[in-house]
Amino acid sequence: MAPQIKYTKLFIDNEWVDAKSGKTFDTYSPHDGSVIAKVAEGDKADIDLAVAAAKRAFHRNSPWRQLDASQRGEIIRKFSDLVVRDIDYLTELESYNNGMVLNNAKVFVGSAVNVIRSAASCADKVHGDTIPADGEVFTYTTRHPIGVCGIILPWNGPIYLFANKVCTALAAGCTVVVKPAEQTPLTALVLAALLKEAGVPKGVVNVVNGFGPGAGTALTHHSDVAKISFTGSVEVGKLIQQAAGVNNLKRVTLELGGKSPLVIMNDADLNLAVPFAANGVFFHQGQVCVAASRLYVQSGIYNKFLEEAVKYAKTIKVGNPRDPATQNGPQIDNEMMTKVLGYIEKGKKEGAKLLCGGNRIGTTGYYIQPTIFADVTDDMTIAKEEIFGPVQSILKFDTLEEVIDRSNNTNYGLAAGIFTTSLNTALQYSKHVEAGTVWVNTYLHFTPQTPFGGFKESGVGRENGLDSVLSYTEVKTVCFSLPKKV
Ligand code: NAI
Ligand code: MG
Repeated sequence: MAPQIKYTKLFIDNEWVDAKSGKTFDTYSPHDGSVIAKVAEGDKADIDLAVAAAKRAFHRNSPWRQLDASQRGEIIRKFSDLVVRDIDYLTELESYNNGMVLNNAKVFVGSAVNVIRSAASCADKVHGDTIPADGEVFTYTTRHPIGVCGIILPWNGPIYLFANKVCTALAAGCTVVVKPAEQTPLTALVLAALLKEAGVPKGVVNVVNGFGPGAGTALTHHSDVAKISFTGSVEVGKLIQQAAGVNNLKRVTLELGGKSPLVIMNDADLNLAVPFAANGVFFHQGQVCVAASRLYVQSGIYNKFLEEAVKYAKTIKVGNPRDPATQNGPQIDNEMMTKVLGYIEKGKKEGAKLLCGGNRIGTTGYYIQPTIFADVTDDMTIAKEEIFGPVQSILKFDTLEEVIDRSNNTNYGLAAGIFTTSLNTALQYSKHVEAGTVWVNTYLHFTPQTPFGGFKESGVGRENGLDSVLSYTEVKTVCFSLPKKV
């Protein structure tokens, strides 16, 4: 049975409201393309209301600003308990609207609980310093919450990314206006209801569903918004950075795309490397920013690796995401499916060797076979552009020096990985590769405590951990004169 859809309106000032225009838009199931709900379509007028509510909630005398930091932490912690209470429902709804298989939805929602709790534990750890400054002065710094934050989400991890960005901002004492992705509006509304239930005062969290050119640009241009946190495409990340400087000077945290290299050395343990490499690019149908989409395999094990990789890929069970036995579900929508199939065609045309997959599955829903290309070269489109689909591109290399330079020959820099049993090789690669996260003998291992973000065009700033909470604050230096010597 399909999960119940409880909320479809906008959430502004702790109330459910229709869009000012009265407009709604359809949201779909990626499994069969059917309409599952009509959701209020917010636009500039609704963003203006939501930002005004968030601004009132940020006033120094507001209930939110009156709380002790530890009380903010308690509310965030309570929210995590409510997510745990409703975990089965949230998991079902995430799977239904996004098409991620139930097991992956469990992983994402479990990770959401962890990041919420991590943020809760940071709320009362945000502090300044006392500084032995020059002169007869007593000087200290404080951390001041930055203000109203705009949060713009993608569709590939709706609950996890909402939880992470919103709770980090709340831990710092900010208020937020969230614009979820148009493909996945539903779970953000449930989370908003749970935040209210947890005791978040009115106006502190607002959710305005809608599209990028409407609600999205209204938020990024709003002069009362102090910061934008965004996850999504490089293209839109650049637009947001520009918009941030138009009517005021917003701070930005941008978590963008990637073309992450994963290196398999001759001395690697293939029993580990093969499944990790497969999971690194096939997990969630490849719709992962850190997907291991350039797989560099050293020449000594190249042929053996190809054989094992194909064997493994053929075991991946693709089907209805809400069937607990399936490992991969559909791509998010027709647009993304068409884009991924287009990359597969380009791979064939440009001379990569198709080892398995390569086709759409069926004619309803947006399913694609797990696909492997071998003999991919660095100049091919599938080695350069983010595919965001279940496509493993395998490239051959000879030396460590060569693979470091080839890994870095990209405008992206989100993640990288290496499988080797040589400590020196692992350390050299980790030292020289230009990436925000490097995994050694593992891949996709996320922890809420460690900084996450990209070099180069993969982003600006870092998320997770205390530093991320600090990025929602301004530093204030307070200088007292001590004129009388005693
Ligand atoms: P997108 O970047 O267009 O959309 C992400 C979010 O930004 C959505 O909420 C959208 O409504 C909003 N948005 C779009 N235009 C905007 C604007 N001008 N101002 C403010 N907000 C705006 O991503 P899309 O179209 O869903 O996917 C395109 C590609 O982006 C994918 O093929 C993939 O390569 C990459 N991507 C990367 C993600 C990541 O995790 N880093 C997540 C999703 C997509
Ligand atoms: Mg887009």
